[in-house]
Amino acid sequence: MNQLSDYHRERVRAVLQSSPLVPVIAIQDLEDAVPLCQALVDGGINVLEITLRTEHGLKAIEQVRKAIPDAWVGAGTVTSIAQYRQVEAAGAQFVITPGVTEAILEFGVTSEAPLLPGIATISELMVGYNLGYREFKFFPAEVAGGIPALKAFNGPFPDVTFCPTGGIRRNTAADYLALGNVQAVGGTWLTPRMWWRPKTGRRLPRLRVGVWLISDFRLGFPAWKFWSGRTLGQGFRETLRAHPCALGAGHPWPATFPETLPQSACHTFR
Ligand code: 3PG
Repeated sequence: MNQLSDYHRERVRAVLQSSPLVPVIAIQDLEDAVPLCQALVDGGINVLEITLRTEHGLKAIEQVRKAIPDAWVGAGTVTSIAQYRQVEAAGAQFVITPGVTEAILEFGVTSEAPLLPGIATISELMVGYNLGYREFKFFPAEVAGGIPALKAFNGPFPDVTFCPTGGIRRNTAADYLALGNVQAVGGTWLTPRMWWRPKTGRRLPRLRVGVWLISDFRLGFPAWKFWSGRTLGQGFRETLRAHPCALGAGHPWPATFPETLPQSACHTFR
């Protein structure tokens, strides 16, 4: 049986290290895809999980990938190998599944886009672990045991790290990020639909989304109160670099993604 290569693992780890916050995005109107994702990138979030939960998922991945080369565009809610192939063809740079099947785990070992498999139990983790996976999505985090479960996982599997999603909100994100085995947290709370597509049909300028993101984070992460002015993205990134404690220990914030990977890997991945 094939084992996950160091190269694949390095790629997934680099994605998670690139942003401690991973928005889970369900595109309702295709025309919103690029402006919304651009707002997130402007706000300092450069890892995007665009899900296949709506009919626009694939097209959105394709469009965002072309329009925002600085972003890491991943596909979420991938549940079959057929979908895995489709999102790779659309340009997804990584793939996230809500759960695992042996077939998907094995496909991820040799795929072009690296896989972040979703697990909810230690038994599922062990299936992936035996294939070489060390990074997992923990889903649905809150109902599958939340922070106590992640602490318990660390006992038998100290070399495994997680991106918990499902039920996490801005007021609990920092607690998750403070755990040594949590690289990043995800969720739909980062892109509440009401803020970027109000009922009136009047689209919020992308700046408002960035403002919302930052003010929301500032409520949740006290160190972010140091953020002050300049451009949104710049202030956001500077704050994170200056006060990494806001995100918990061990969450590097690389200036640009390629610095974290060998050139050869960057070339292939991007
Ligand atoms: C996911 O797929 O990661 C979850 O549906 C996100 O859960 P949330 O809506 O509770 O953030």
